Formats: sequence, C-alpha cells, structure tokens
Amino acid sequence: MSDRSDKLTQSMFTSKFGTIAFLVAATLAAFTNVAAAQTAAALTVQLDKPAHAVSPTLYGLMTEEINYSYDGGLYAEMVRNRTFQDHGFGGVAHWNIVHNGASVAAMAIDQTEGPSAALQHSLVVSITQADATNQAGVRNEGYWGMALRPNTTYKGSLYAKADSAGIGPLSVSLVNDNSGKPVASATVNELSTQWKRYEFTLATGNIEVSAQNHLLLTVGHAGKLWLDLVSLFPPTYKNRENGNRTDLMEMMAAMHPKFLRLPGGNYLEGDQIDERFDWKNTIGPLVDRPTHRSPWNYQSSDGLGLLEFLEWSEDLNIDTVLAVYAGYSLKGDHIRPGPTLTPFVEDALDEIEFATGDTSTKWGGVRAKLGHPNPFAIKYVEIGNEDWFDRSGSYEGRYAQFYKAIKAKYPQLELIATAPLKQMKPDVLDDHYYKRADEFFADVKHYDAVDRNGPKIFVGEWATREGSPTTNMNAALGDAAWMTGMERNSDLIVMASYAPLFVNVNPGGMQWESDLIGYDALTSYGAPSYYAQAMFAQYLGTEVPTSSLTGASERFFYSVTSDSAKGAVYLKLVNGSSVSQPMEINITGAREIGKSSTLISLTGNNPAETNTISDPVRIIPVKTTIKNNGASFSHTVPAYSIQVIELQTK
Ligand code: AHR
Repeated sequence: MSDRSDKLTQSMFTSKFGTIAFLVAATLAAFTNVAAAQTAAALTVQLDKPAHAVSPTLYGLMTEEINYSYDGGLYAEMVRNRTFQDHGFGGVAHWNIVHNGASVAAMAIDQTEGPSAALQHSLVVSITQADATNQAGVRNEGYWGMALRPNTTYKGSLYAKADSAGIGPLSVSLVNDNSGKPVASATVNELSTQWKRYEFTLATGNIEVSAQNHLLLTVGHAGKLWLDLVSLFPPTYKNRENGNRTDLMEMMAAMHPKFLRLPGGNYLEGDQIDERFDWKNTIGPLVDRPTHRSPWNYQSSDGLGLLEFLEWSEDLNIDTVLAVYAGYSLKGDHIRPGPTLTPFVEDALDEIEFATGDTSTKWGGVRAKLGHPNPFAIKYVEIGNEDWFDRSGSYEGRYAQFYKAIKAKYPQLELIATAPLKQMKPDVLDDHYYKRADEFFADVKHYDAVDRNGPKIFVGEWATREGSPTTNMNAALGDAAWMTGMERNSDLIVMASYAPLFVNVNPGGMQWESDLIGYDALTSYGAPSYYAQAMFAQYLGTEVPTSSLTGASERFFYSVTSDSAKGAVYLKLVNGSSVSQPMEINITGAREIGKSSTLISLTGNNPAETNTISDPVRIIPVKTTIKNNGASFSHTVPAYSIQVIELQTK
C-alpha cells in the first residue's frame, strides 16, 4: 500500500493515536462548552416511512485544467513546457541553457523546425564548443521541481534531430538541484539528421525522496541540436502509459465518487472559440496534439486528452458526464443557431460516438485503434457550460439544435442544460453555487420547495469559498450543511460535484482560491472539505426516511438516509456553531437497532483551522464506537463538527 493509502486508511478508519486525540479534543470541547451548551434537540427518524429514494449517482467529481490540475498536477508528466509553447520576453519558460566548463552554447525557438504538423516549432540548441568533460545542453526545472523516489524507474522520451551525427550521443540525467550530482543517467545514441523519437529510462538508486531535482540533456561535441516533446513519467496509477499520479487518483477514489464531469468548466469553452476544448486535437499520439491556450492563462499540453479523461473514469470505475462545446466562449463570442452551428453539433455527435460507439462506427473505430476497443457507457451529456453568461440569448436555440440532433441518434442519453430555458424542458438543469458558509447555512432549504415536475437538477459546481489555497473548517461546515439539503432533496438532485477539485499550492500555481485537494510535486493533502465530501459519499443510504428535528440551534443541520439491504442507517449531524449540541435521538420503525454504532467525526478547534501541505492531517475524520445506543439515545455533537453515526438495523 502506498503512503497515500496508509494516510487515508489512518484518517478514515482511525489509528489508536487518532482515537485518543479525538477523545481528548472532544473532552476539551465538552468542557469549554459547558457554560454555553444548547438545550437538547430531539431528532426522530421513522424508518418504516420512506420519503423517497436517494439518487444512486449523487456525489461525483468535477474537473478541468485550472490551478495546474492536470499539467503540474494529476497528469504525471514531469517535464514542464515539453513542447516549448511557452516562450517570449522572458525566454523559453522552465528551460535553461547549460554550458559546463569551457563549453559554449545558446538556445532559441526555431519556428521552422518541428517533428509533426501539430508541433511545427522546436528548441534549437547551438553548441559552439563542447567536449566529453565540458558538456553543453539544456535543463528543465519541472513543475516546481521533479519528485524523485528511491529505486524507481522513470520512463522518458523525446524527439530530436542534429545537424550532423558528429554531435555524438545525448546524455540524459536527473540531477539533484542542491548537490549538482546526477541521481540517474541514460544515453541516447546516434542522433539522426531527421526528426526521430527516442526513448530512455532513468532509474534511481537508494536516494532520499526529494522534489529538488531537474532533467539535464547534454552533448559533448559542437553542433546544432533540435528538441521537442521532451517527456518523463514516474510510475503511474494502474501503470497506464501517459497516465496519472497515483496519490491523486487514490485521493479521488477515497471520495467514493459516482461520476466525473469533464472536461470543464470554463476550460470547455475557452476564452475564444478557437481556444475551446477541441477534442479532436486531444486524441492520438502526443506528437499530433497541437496543445492549446486555456482560459486559466497557461498552455494546456493536452496530454490528458479525451481518451485519457474517459480512462480516468474507467480507472475509478465511475460514470462519465460528458460536456460538449455548445458554441459559446467566455469572452462572449458565440455561434448563432442554424447552419453555422451545424459543424459544432456534428463535432459533438462524433465525440459521443468516439466515447460510446462500437468498433464498427467511424469514431468508435478510431478509439479502438488508439487502444480502447470497449466503448464507455455514458448516460448524461451536458450542452455547454454556464450559458447564462451568454447575453445574446442564443442558448435557447443552440440547446434545441444540439438536443434534436443528439436525441435523434442517441435517444437514451439525458441532456443537461446549463441555463434555464423558456421554450423547452431540459432533462436536467446544471446549477452552480459558490458561497460563504453563512450563505449556505441560510440556504440549506433551497431545493425543499422546488417543483418536482421541472427538470432534474445537477449541482455541477459548488463550494464554500473560505480558505486558500484549500478550504478551512468553516468551509467544510458550510459544505456539509449544504449536502444535508442535497440529500434531503436527492429525489430531485441527481448529481452534485464540488469545484475546483485540485490546486498546485506552489507560488503561481493557483488561479482560483478555495480548492479541495492541494499538492506540490511530491505530496498531496485534503482540505477539511475533502473529508466532509468523503464522509458524505461513503456513508450514504438508498432511501431518505421521514424524520424531524426540533429544538436545535440555527446553525445545526442534519440528514438521514438508510439502506435496508445493508441494514444501515446513516445520521449526518453538522454543528456549525461555537457550542456543542446535545440531542435525544429516537429511531422508530425497525425491529431492532444494534446496541453499538459507529461514529465518524470531523472536528475543528475553530472555523479558521485548516490542513496545509506542511500540516496535512490536522483535521481528519476519526472513527470511534458509540456503545449501548439502541433505538433511543442521547448524543452530543461538539462545536464545529461534522459527524456521521452509522446505526445497524435488524
Ligand atoms: O470552478 C471554477 C469555474 O467556475 C469554472 O470553470 C466555471 O464553470 C465556473 O464559473
């Protein structure tokens, strides 16, 4: 098991130390809150009176390229600016010239040389003097360093050409920033005068774990060397080629998600129409992907393209909610419904066929050639993103045009609208909420009275925005309160996904504050909100029974779900106030309730408390046992706490 699984196992299933820590914290909280304690609230649950079923896909993941979520995040590529798209006034970003000893070299972008139609420029290194002991070349600094671990093999590749074979072999090594010493080395022999792809492996020995490393490429003779698509991968999740970081995939798996909404967000739309997520440019060999400018102000390598997105869902064994570009981009450009929109509708049909078609179809066949003959199962397709921003009023017509074409070919798909419509009822409507904790507390009944004859609801983006780069305990409380409302309304709300999911916590890594999972090159951690999400998704029943609560404080929230097949009842109790909340809990309608139950508790000392990259497990769920509860019992929820009580029914 990896470090990450150990950490999560410890956090979700409590070490002895964690239990003691929790008990001490709970005792202290109880002591400090004695004077101000609330009067007891009464929670009654009628298990024999089910109100409605819980959506089986309630909690999922929303993703896009923001905050270095993929490049410099989930996508395990270690070389930054591998295709040299990022260059300008400050030179070639993240690359440096190296001239050891008496060697002399310079680097520049060559706009006339590239290995493919998609990559038409490259880095040219002009070496005017070098020898075996005075080598010259370039180094790449990685995404805020390169994380290296002991006894690990890193797989590399690059495209190169030289003006003459006399330039000699290319030395490739991983070098520690501080010592300057190579920790792994390889040689690429016989550079050709034509563009060619070369592979190499770099194996570390018994080194210390560190992110302070860089990649060094040097030669020992004068000449010209062109480089492109320089790539290096550590071992990836499920050993996928061109795959994902294991720690981040494990963190998502531990959230018990049911779906992945992809590929955005603003990232789907782009600032301009030609900066949209143009899926056809994101499939196939990496050398055929031109890369593109994302609306979050950096270039996307598109290494994590459409097929990799789908495989990400597959690796987590979850559904895909596929968002298709719908003819509107962020800066306001839009395509009017009618013939000019038709190519975009056809692109969406091709995209759906690429994901779901069998191998006899054109795009299903392309997917098979790319190594994935089995189609992906998709139930939901989303038409655009946040189209309420389109002030031209074109969305109504654009949605209708996509709807008609997609339903004609794929009648089984449910189509999601991203703005309310006047002329037709969409299958599902995507609502987004970014609020403060107090606003969510005040709005937990938001969906209680919504018309059940309207569209189903997808809360496709939402978050309590408090804390930076990742959210704090108060945000977790706001989130948990809001989730009690979503569970109570899970007959209407079919899916919900927090956003943004990821942030690289290094300086310059964040474009959007208040994120769920933070990381650098080496490690990752969850915000308190991350654990709230994981608790709510892990302990979720199949039905909402009738229940009532009286006498609780204004900032106390709850939800109850039950699962008769598992014989489980899940009480979720959220105390957003500074004083503890005593309760009398009474469960009726079950033949018997087990004599002991499980308590999972996430508690902060105060609302601003949080986890950080250097203090990653300060606030984590702690699991204990409640003894002798039966069907009626007293329980106190500490201040600033999110709790789940799992009762067993017989
Ligand atoms: O989650 C960050 C951004 O918020 C998304 O890209 C966009 O859809 C929303 O406005």
